[in-house]
This record gives sequence, structure tokens and C-alpha cells, in this order.
Amino acid sequence: MRSLRAIQRKAVLSGAALRWAARALGGAFDLRLRSMWRIVRNKVLFLTSERRYRSVGDAQLLNVAVHPEARGRGVATALVSEGLRLLRTLGVPEVRLEVRPWNGAALAVYTRTGWREVGRTRDLEGEWVVMVASPGPIPAGSLRG
Ligand SMILES: CC(C)(COP(=O)(O)OP(=O)(O)OC[C@H]1O[C@@H](n2cnc3c(N)ncnc32)[C@H](O)[C@@H]1OP(=O)(O)O)[C@@H](O)C(=O)NCCC(=O)NCCS
Repeated sequence: MRSLRAIQRKAVLSGAALRWAARALGGAFDLRLRSMWRIVRNKVLFLTSERRYRSVGDAQLLNVAVHPEARGRGVATALVSEGLRLLRTLGVPEVRLEVRPWNGAALAVYTRTGWREVGRTRDLEGEWVVMVASPGPIPAGSLRG
């Protein structure tokens, strides 16, 4: 799905968001009420800031994670590159993400795959670097040899 708003709409209309909330309140994720409140507040902060620093559309890279034992071998670089290639075939002109400024490994992956910082935002946990990319090939010379 290439639209963040479409994913959010689907999560609400399908009842998935409500089911997740009910399971969280029922203790399925071992979350305390205080943590849940922080998660909800951070989600609200995200919803109020997710349109900032965009020039077009609402495509968003939400989560990239690699198993700790497989890190440092180019997996995330390959995943992000392939994601951008897919978005290009879908005709998505711009995609946005947020990353913590202390997350050196993630920043290295995004910079290498052609993302650029366009601004900063915050939530209860601190600052986010906002980056955007125009889906397309990885800049020449930035791939591993
Ligand atoms: C970020 C993450 C997805 C990277 O996955 P990965 O498969 O190891 O990434 P790659 O191997 O493609 O590239 C990582 C690069 O970061 C570099 N790197 C690692 N730690 C670093 C640090 N602290 N500072 C700067 N660069 C760092 C690596 O050396 C590597 O570069 P190299 O290939 O030139 O050596 C992985 O660390 C992860 O799952 N982290 C936890 C989840 C997370 O933070 N996701 C990002 C959310 S925005």
C-alpha cells in the first residue's frame, strides 16, 4: 500500500486499531497503562506532524529492522533500495521517514540510499530527523564494491 493515510484509514475502519487497543488493555503486550498513554500521545504527535516537510503525497517508510545477528552485512541497505525501486515502479514521487539522530546505523543506510534530511520534529522520547527520498536508483558510487 503506497499511501500512509490509506493504511491509517484501513486500520481504523477494519477494527484492527480497536482490537490492538483492546488486547493492549487486556495485558497481551505486557504494557503498563503509563506506557500505553505515552504510545497514544506519541501517535497523536506523529499524526499532527506527519505532513510536515513534504512537498508531495503521503508515502512513509515506517519500520526497518534487521535481526541483530544479521546486521552489518548490507541487509537494510538492500531492503531500503528495493523498497525505493518498488515505489518508483508505482510512480510515487516522494517518500518520508523519521529516524532518531543517535541512530548511526540507520542514518548510514538512509544516507547511502539517497535520503536527505529536510527537518526535525519531536515526540515524548526526543528529537526525530525527518528525511525524504525521491524513489530511484542509489546514487552511483555509494554501493558496496
Ligand atoms: C538500522 C538497521 C536496520 C541497519 O541494518 P543493517 O542490515 O545492519 O544495515 P546495513 O548493513 O545495510 O548498513 C549498516 C551501516 O551502518 C554502519 N553503522 C553501524 N553502526 C553505526 C553507527 N553507530 N554509526 C554509524 N554507522 C554505523 C555499518 O558500519 C554499516 O555501514 P558499512 O556497510 O559502510 O559498514 C539495524 O541496525 C536495526 O535493525 N536496528 C534496530 C532497528 C532500527 O533502529 N531501525 C531503524 C528505524 S528508523
